[in-house]
Amino acid sequence: MTDLKSRLTDPTLLKSASFIDGGWVDSSDTFEVRNPADGSLVAKVADIGAGGAHRAVDAAARAFQTWKKTPVFERARIVRRWHELIVEHASDLGAIITAEMGKPYKEARGEVVYGAGFISWAAEEAMRLHGETLPTQAPGSRGWTIHQPVGVVACITPWNFPSAMISRKCGPALAAGCTVVVKPAPETPLSALALAELAKRAGFPAGVFNVINGKAEVLGPVMTGAPAVRMIGFTGSTEVGKLLMRQAADGIKRVSLELGGNAPFLVMDDADVELAADGVMASKFRAAGQTCVSANRIIAQDGVADALIKALKRRVEKLKVGSGFDERTNVGPLIHQEAVEHVSALVEDARTRGAKVLVGGQSLSAKMGGAFYAPTLIEAGEDQGLDMATSEIFGPVATVYRASDEAEMIRLANDTRHGLAAYLYTNDVGRVHRMSEALEFGMVGVNAPMVGSPSTPFGGMKESGIGREGGKWGVEEFTELKFVMLGGVDR
Ligand code: SIN
Repeated sequence: MTDLKSRLTDPTLLKSASFIDGGWVDSSDTFEVRNPADGSLVAKVADIGAGGAHRAVDAAARAFQTWKKTPVFERARIVRRWHELIVEHASDLGAIITAEMGKPYKEARGEVVYGAGFISWAAEEAMRLHGETLPTQAPGSRGWTIHQPVGVVACITPWNFPSAMISRKCGPALAAGCTVVVKPAPETPLSALALAELAKRAGFPAGVFNVINGKAEVLGPVMTGAPAVRMIGFTGSTEVGKLLMRQAADGIKRVSLELGGNAPFLVMDDADVELAADGVMASKFRAAGQTCVSANRIIAQDGVADALIKALKRRVEKLKVGSGFDERTNVGPLIHQEAVEHVSALVEDARTRGAKVLVGGQSLSAKMGGAFYAPTLIEAGEDQGLDMATSEIFGPVATVYRASDEAEMIRLANDTRHGLAAYLYTNDVGRVHRMSEALEFGMVGVNAPMVGSPSTPFGGMKESGIGREGGKWGVEEFTELKFVMLGGVDR
């Protein structure tokens, strides 16, 4: 799809870098998007400012009056068409992701298709959103429920999944009858703009789908403050999630927050060690470790710890680091140099506390001319209170901790303010039930390193968030449940 690809290089298209009320909007104020693999300039994108954000919210509010009444059959038809166009153009959309945030192209293309799945699933779910008739206490009365769209939704999305996090929020919101204003991360505005182009082609009426680019500190308060915005959907850090929740509190706006994680990856004595090692690799090194569901603490039971470390060492040593456009690359760059410095500091802290660095353990930025960190394997020593045990690593560093029994593993796993995803490797079915029930996490992968799917609920407990994306829950999230009571029936 050369026309979308050309958005990466065509200066006239790139000047028109927000999509408001069905059209491209320009601004002379711009910010740069750089490829983290080599620092090259990918694009200059227009910063739309507070005025643009207000225009987008007003357009979405106007469009909501019609979109909410559009028969769900018609809404679902357009949403499905959007899905088809995204899948058709997955290769170019994948290339855009790799250019703006660096993940290997195969993963990037996979992200596009994964995210698109949430759109088509939501189109079907919205067709089956129905209320119930209910018995009521008052004589001669009847009651029933209806699901109605919440209204204008502000979707604030991250750079680590620049396509899928938009699809996962906007597919369900649009199918449910809401209109949206998307504010992508400044690192990755191009995926959002490409999705807007495809939304336009799919036939969404003007104002139903809007994308605005600019500074978070300017656009964020407009979105949380505007009375017309009834819901904030956000994926990102817990700190920013708290800030948005505070800002949304004034207008009692609904929030759906998918925030940071600190995923434990538990490997029990009875587990298949090779399967567990494959699982760690898939969970830990996807997007160079920059996912909220990435295995942050690998906790191995004593009887299996040595074998697991050996199996991981073999695998980590083989990983190839490089540009996401090189098809041999397994681990791409981190999003920017500050991210490399964050990971370096965590590894240095581990070293000073007696952890053994078995593979990697250094920045590759100077050598490779981009924001790279070596795939790293660490074995924690006696001191298990490493900084990286309590904060998100968000980099390609796998650290193994040891524990003696089930009770200790559960205690360690739950010893975090986060509660997004946990992983459990065991072949004991009793343990599967006992431990998955005891883990204080929104999602538990048992002998499975991936927990996201368009048909299932994605979201966290504790400080990892509120609400669920995916499946029927992801669509219901964007609706208000209304109760209607009818009196005077049995006259
Ligand atoms: C995330 O890390 O925020 C999303 C990961 C996923 O959907 O698998």
